[in-house]
Amino acid sequence: MAIYPDLSGKVVVVTGGATGIGEAIVRAFAAQGARVGFLDIDEAAGSALMTELSADGHAVHFEALDLRNISALQAGIATIRKLFGPVGVLVNNAAHDERHPALKVTPEYFDERIAVNLRHQFFASQAVLPDMQASGGGAIICMSSISWMAGFGGMPIYTASKSAVLGMVRSLARDFGGDNIRVNAITPGWIITKRQLELWLTPEADAERSARQSLKRRIYPDDIAKLTLFLASEDASAITAQNYVADGGWV
Ligand SMILES: NC(=O)c1ccc[n+]([C@@H]2O[C@H](COP(=O)([O-])OP(=O)(O)OC[C@H]3O[C@@H](n4cnc5c(N)ncnc54)[C@H](O)[C@@H]3O)[C@@H](O)[C@H]2O)c1
Repeated sequence: MAIYPDLSGKVVVVTGGATGIGEAIVRAFAAQGARVGFLDIDEAAGSALMTELSADGHAVHFEALDLRNISALQAGIATIRKLFGPVGVLVNNAAHDERHPALKVTPEYFDERIAVNLRHQFFASQAVLPDMQASGGGAIICMSSISWMAGFGGMPIYTASKSAVLGMVRSLARDFGGDNIRVNAITPGWIITKRQLELWLTPEADAERSARQSLKRRIYPDDIAKLTLFLASEDASAITAQNYVADGGWV
């Protein structure tokens, strides 16, 4: 991976950083010498990752919490700030892609899917924006998904949340551009995490993935982590309000 000297010492918050793409992002920022705080509901995986990276000399802190609880999210970010200082980079990564047939969705389940896939992205941004304003700038990177662009079925509240992320990104970029805060989205294609391997990657599905992508290789969490580093770094200092699709040419 490229080295971005301006990321060294930066305070970075990653949501959903214990496993999957978020874990790759936590590892990538730690390797840049950033001070990384990550939030996740998976206490065992998060603690193991913190222990491993701390033993390697990285400044990493894990807060076990449920991002559907906004006070817990705010408290988690406050703890990271107290430990490492004002937040300079936020990666809104956490989500949950549980399938939900439209006819079975209740009002409560609808709200819960929005809470796990969209609401925390706004409130995490709200929690770090004053730090970024006070320190002359910052970068927020929000994960969308090609699922809504490609017209996937079977999880309409997930796809609604993931398309809404782009509207939020463009509005926040407009509102806070004057503070030199850049807000961008990454739209991953099918990224082969451990969870995707275990749950969905049958030989048939893999063949379809390959047929739909222009590039035939599998896309991995590190591919998304590299793009995240770039967008967080000064090398992307002219870029805001944009969406970067990283899907091997699927959509
Ligand atoms: N993997 C893919 O193919 C793919 C494709 C498109 C978009 N994305 C997006 O990329 C991001 C990461 O995806 P992933 O595949 O690594 O997801 P994942 O499900 O493998 O991991 C998400 C992380 O978020 C955490 N999390 C889930 N619910 C939480 C909650 N309520 N509170 C705190 N933490 C919680 C999980 O414990 C996990 O560590 C998501 O925003 C996802 O929508 C992924």
